[in-house]
Amino acid sequence: MKKKVRKALFPAAGLGTRFLPATKALPKEMLALVDKPLIQYGVEEAIAAGCEQIIIVTGRNKAEIEDHFDISFELEQLLERRGKTDLLAMTRQVSHMARIAYVRQKEAMGLGHAVLMARDLVGDEPFAVILPDDIIAAEVPCLQQMIEVFEKTQSSILATQVVEGPSISSYGVLDCTADAEDPRLVAVRTLVEKPAPEEAPSRNAIIGRYILTPRIFDVLENTALGAGGELQLTDGIKGLLEFEEVYGYTFEGTRYDAGDKLGMLKATVEFSLRRDDLGPEFREYLKTLSL
Ligand code: UTP
Repeated sequence: MKKKVRKALFPAAGLGTRFLPATKALPKEMLALVDKPLIQYGVEEAIAAGCEQIIIVTGRNKAEIEDHFDISFELEQLLERRGKTDLLAMTRQVSHMARIAYVRQKEAMGLGHAVLMARDLVGDEPFAVILPDDIIAAEVPCLQQMIEVFEKTQSSILATQVVEGPSISSYGVLDCTADAEDPRLVAVRTLVEKPAPEEAPSRNAIIGRYILTPRIFDVLENTALGAGGELQLTDGIKGLLEFEEVYGYTFEGTRYDAGDKLGMLKATVEFSLRRDDLGPEFREYLKTLSL
């Protein structure tokens, strides 16, 4: 019987050092892109892709994430008294958007370790992983595109984008073979972490969306700590390749690294320009800047 992806996991226990000092006391995942916290974009993407349960891996100093998706009585009462019906509806929608379970990662010991923390909540079924600081603008949500592929392959799938030039060496890169039927799909031979540009085995860089089979948990349990003394998800996926096929999928859409200051600035400009309520005025403002 074909398996379905019902659960989406959000690792959100990292320290967010690239965004200091903003992330000293505020979770990176709560930084606002225009007017919405980063993690809410990801949760909306997962729901649009048909996921029924959201699992968020949090840590110390991450209480704002739970508060954000919780009911805020005082705020709702105030908005009601003031007759701000649109804002009230928006606030209520956030607290009712999904079934969310939380699990703690007590120490930021790496992405693979964060995924492992959710083992009991995920159970024995395939699941999605969304890195909340990778924001993807797409007509069909990136995760939905991947789930459609999973429904055929029933194998783990890593989202990739084509990166030309030397910046390929900031990514995990696929060593892979093309699929005969689908030009966006490749079969993964292995992964190479941050290769020198001339040694990159392909232009397919791994982006923060994954669909993983539950075997990843057994593999991660038996994976040694890697770079930076952390349990790396990419090492786990390499281990998974010894047992199963893993695919890479070049999604349609644009990805922004909003966990990085420049990436966040680019996303802010582009998302603002696309907004009906902000775009026209913002465009006029940008034109006045003598760049
Ligand atoms: P990043 O490497 O982008 O996040 O991990 P980071 O470590 O918080 O940030 P920098 O690099 O220091 O600026 C991607 C996602 O994985 C989570 C992070 O919260 C982020 O959403 N993560 C990372 C964990 O949950 N646990 C970890 O141990 C590491």
